[in-house]
Amino acid sequence: MFRNLVPETAPDLTDSREYFPSLEQVFEGKPVVFFDNPGGTQTAQQVMEAMQDYLLYANSNTHGAFITSQRTDMIIQEARQAMADFLNCAPDEIVFGPNMTTLTFAFSRALAKRFAPGDEIVVTALDHDANIAPWRAIARDNNFVIRQIDIDPQTGALNMEDAKTKITDKTKLVAFGYASNALGVINDVETLIQLAHSVGALCYVDAVQFAPHGPIDVQKLDCDFLACSAYKFFGPHVGILFGKKALLDDIQPYKVAPASNETPEKFETGTLAHELLAGLLGAIDYLSLVGTTLSNPSADIASEYSGRRRSLKIAMGAIMAYERTLSTYMLTSLSIVRGVTIYGPQNPDDTSGRVPTFAIRIKNKSPRLLAESLGAQGVFAWDGNYYALDLMNRLGLEDSGGALRLGLAHYNTTEEINRCITLLQGASV
Ligand SMILES: Cc1ncc(COP(=O)(O)O)c(C=O)c1O
Repeated sequence: MFRNLVPETAPDLTDSREYFPSLEQVFEGKPVVFFDNPGGTQTAQQVMEAMQDYLLYANSNTHGAFITSQRTDMIIQEARQAMADFLNCAPDEIVFGPNMTTLTFAFSRALAKRFAPGDEIVVTALDHDANIAPWRAIARDNNFVIRQIDIDPQTGALNMEDAKTKITDKTKLVAFGYASNALGVINDVETLIQLAHSVGALCYVDAVQFAPHGPIDVQKLDCDFLACSAYKFFGPHVGILFGKKALLDDIQPYKVAPASNETPEKFETGTLAHELLAGLLGAIDYLSLVGTTLSNPSADIASEYSGRRRSLKIAMGAIMAYERTLSTYMLTSLSIVRGVTIYGPQNPDDTSGRVPTFAIRIKNKSPRLLAESLGAQGVFAWDGNYYALDLMNRLGLEDSGGALRLGLAHYNTTEEINRCITLLQGASV
């Protein structure tokens, strides 16, 4: 992890709420608490404005000889640059698509042409199915072999000893998440990438659940591919795939004949959702604003970055620091709820290994009924497996409704945690 990007003293980010008009919603007389963030965050004001502006002044298809089309071309280019700044890569290493799942299915089929029958792909028991099912599908269709890295069921962390035995010289690709959408655990991605590269394998990182919570630098990580989704980091429903330029150049996707065969456009089949790319620019504007307005970022933070890259790193480092305090508060508060079991990292005194996503069960209570009773009081939280299907099976929870997931973002507050805990205490008796 990029520890130098996370300030030791957490800034107070509660002012960020003013940029999220939807947080002001009231449900049956009570302010709504959004703890459903891993399923999708609320959208910053800048996103809505940018989308409206696009539809008013630039709505068109690409490469035309007139102004709205030229504005569209410009917005796509700017969105690529914005994501390149967010991930610290070059703009032509950014591929856009409808969402992470669709991008990964399409990309896995293109990548399959590089592998031979008997080659091995390593996935994990912790991942969202979007980073398992596409690899299983190409394995089934091409006679590749799938290996799966197990978890430590006590901590939810990937079992790194198991990783070392599963990643061998037969491995061609290792697919793993940056942070778990269910347990909140942050994986040791640096080590996994090194393990993959040590045997000459590629790695595909699912950063969907890390992107809203911390700084990402694909160059420092040296990862080959990394996917995320803007609707999980305060933007609209659009997916993003980073790939190293040389690799993208070398991979031939399925595409229509007249479309560009250049990287990255060749991966973007059909017409992109231009208004959403405008919205993505709005999300990056919002995060960059957080970075530039923080009153006292410590001197060494992000000193190796400049311009918007620096603001974004400062913002994400601050978000991570602030959310660690929310995680400490949540874990301490949950411990007073009778009959509660927390899955994943549980130490309130060290929350550096997690994002603020908590999977819990309360003894003899159905996660669905708990989510319903919270929802009726305006506290929104998911229940079930959230597509972390292999994980829920591994934890033995799948057949009994999975777990209740309380997933926070930087605009959440300790008061909201208090409200949720009071409701859970009431439900636990
Ligand atoms: C970790 C993780 N990966 C992938 C996905 C799928 O993302 P998308 O909806 O963009 O396909 C999700 C969605 O919840 C997720 O949490």
